[in-house]
Amino acid sequence: MRRQKAFELARVYPHKTYAQAASEVYLNCEHMMLEYLPGLLLSHFLWPHHYRQLQFFDTAFAAAMHMSLQPQFAEVGVGTALYSRRLLARLPQSTGSGYDISPASCQFARRHIESVGLHLRYSMNEQDIIAQPIAPVPWLVCVEVLEHLEKPVEFLRALRVGLLPGGKAFITAALNAAHADHIYLYRNSEEVCAHLNAAGFTLEQSFVAAAYGPPSPGVPVPLAAAFVVY
Ligand SMILES: C[S@@+](CC[C@H](N)C(=O)[O-])C[C@H]1O[C@@H](n2cnc3c(N)ncnc32)[C@H](O)[C@@H]1O
Repeated sequence: MRRQKAFELARVYPHKTYAQAASEVYLNCEHMMLEYLPGLLLSHFLWPHHYRQLQFFDTAFAAAMHMSLQPQFAEVGVGTALYSRRLLARLPQSTGSGYDISPASCQFARRHIESVGLHLRYSMNEQDIIAQPIAPVPWLVCVEVLEHLEKPVEFLRALRVGLLPGGKAFITAALNAAHADHIYLYRNSEEVCAHLNAAGFTLEQSFVAAAYGPPSPGVPVPLAAAFVVY
């Protein structure tokens, strides 16, 4: 909240490289396991915009996947594995693979999926998907990774390669949200959409929700923007 207050005045994120964010956050196992990942998981049930994004995921993506004869999915930047768990639990025929560069995220995700008995249909991979492309799948999920990167379009191009023809992807970004590891500032959903198009995705439907109303007119507030693309 202190970072957000500073952002309201500066209107930019403090400069940070991806390597700095990775070493301070993703590769800091203690911080990831005790604070970052549990906080991220809880946020989906405490923050209205995260909860509404989950509901959009259920109706716009999981419901469509439910009708599919090929319910194989991959989640990139899996973090806590909340979204993977949701698909595995709701779609008993589904199988999935998770990908993350953070050893802590991989461990947390593995434990999370195992704790609810869904691990026989899931594999977890510690992998940078730009350096090592994922095996293409018909259903692809990537939640809140783009704003963590210096070059989101490069990452999105690697994701596009991971989507089979006829497949669908659920991709989100956090906008105007000043977190320690948010590097790329998206100010509105059109900017994310432009990046998706540049990477070769076509928009099917989208959703935007605010964390709260602006404290005064014109003050940027954190937004969750989610896109179903093909
Ligand atoms: C904010 S978390 C999102 C986690 C989860 N998708 C969620 O919304 O709860 C961002 C995750 O992206 C991962 N990440 C960052 N850069 C990545 C990259 N190049 N490839 C794969 N994962 C990456 C981080 O390690 C972290 O676990």
